Amino acid sequence: MVNVLVIGAGARESALGRAFLASPQVQAVYVAPGNAGMALIGLTPVAIDAMDFPALIAFAKAHVALTFVGPEQPLTAGICDAFQAAGLAVFGPKRALAQLEGSKQFAKAFMARHDLPTAAATVVHDLAAGQAALAGHRLPVVIKADGLAAGKGVVVCSDLPAAQAALARAYAADPAATVLIEDYLAGQEASVLAMFNGTTRVLFPLAQDHKRRLAGDAGPNTGGMGAISPAPQFTAAQQAQAAALVDATLAGAVTDGLDGCGVIYLGLMFTVDGPKLLEYNVRFGDPETQVLLTQVQNDFYQLTVDLLAGHAQPLVLDGRTYCGVVAVHPDYPGDTSRPLPVATPDQAALDYWLPAGVAGTQGALTTAGGRVFTVVGAGPNLAHAQLQAYARVAPLLGELAMRQDIGAKGLRQPQD
Ligand code: AMP
Ligand code: GLY
Repeated sequence: MVNVLVIGAGARESALGRAFLASPQVQAVYVAPGNAGMALIGLTPVAIDAMDFPALIAFAKAHVALTFVGPEQPLTAGICDAFQAAGLAVFGPKRALAQLEGSKQFAKAFMARHDLPTAAATVVHDLAAGQAALAGHRLPVVIKADGLAAGKGVVVCSDLPAAQAALARAYAADPAATVLIEDYLAGQEASVLAMFNGTTRVLFPLAQDHKRRLAGDAGPNTGGMGAISPAPQFTAAQQAQAAALVDATLAGAVTDGLDGCGVIYLGLMFTVDGPKLLEYNVRFGDPETQVLLTQVQNDFYQLTVDLLAGHAQPLVLDGRTYCGVVAVHPDYPGDTSRPLPVATPDQAALDYWLPAGVAGTQGALTTAGGRVFTVVGAGPNLAHAQLQAYARVAPLLGELAMRQDIGAKGLRQPQD
């Protein structure tokens, strides 16, 4: 039996931890720093910050056979380079490849170099250049700050004053900012993820996140309010297009000398002109992971170790559809520092409760962040999965908030 270390603190890491714990080979799953809710689902939080590489390396050396990195901050700061230099087994991309997520400018240049379809964009470095560049773009237009922003650095502007204001805000926040001004793409969004080593990959079914805070895709962008997978509104042809873009991305990375393993996540917009790349992430998505790993029947530890050695296991799925609803602090994505009570799930509910921003102890849990937990429902189709997810979250919600329409777009579209 082996132990595994998962780095991160959210519901994604709860899902990763559960997937590892389900392996008959795994004894204990440590999560650094984890959250207080994780102890209720059999995981072991370890009070080490995700950016404290020396302490994480010392812990991994002493306690685990494998480390899996969840969030983007340590990845873009080179945690996998540091673990590898220390001779440790770690699943995640090295810093050079993580720039695909860490810099939107780097990602755009990569897409251009490898002929991958994406929205036309202008990169600017100061406010005057930005204001001038706006003239060259149709409305609506999208203003994106370069660098990591937890899904909140993107503003879709339907008129010129809004675009000018968004630019001014970006430069007020950081006078040295690099900003992308990008054509707006209309269509349905999908997330396609694969675990990979070089061009060898294990591809997951398409998922759909819900990034806006409010029902009907209104309100500000968030880290993600809920997800479904497999997303039934996409045809087999669209799934094949998504897979081809994953393969072209991995081939491009190898061509560029960006070797290694990890998770690649393509944010896609299926437009009338076919799929276009919105963004790359170099990690599992949150909340996509909560509805992807729950489908997987493989021994997830063995799948990861095999891929580290260059072998892709065929993915075995349970054939059900999953719907994950994220319970958030009502002030999210604003200031969520005011703590609120969080219901402690009963024993049965712990099977589908994936804690994130949770502090305190069993029976006296409180919020500690914006996204508090994800509840997952499943069924033979999306309608069943959605019903089950909402039935399960209702008794746990208390003073927290959620979107009422996770999965609605998938139900509206004709199914494949
Ligand atoms: P990003 O961090 O680049 O993925 O952007 C966050 C979210 O903003 C995306 O998931 C989309 O919902 C939206 N978005 C980003 N770029 C565009 C675009 N060019 N057109 C329409 N929506 C976009
Ligand atoms: N689900 C969006 C993200 O993980 O970035």
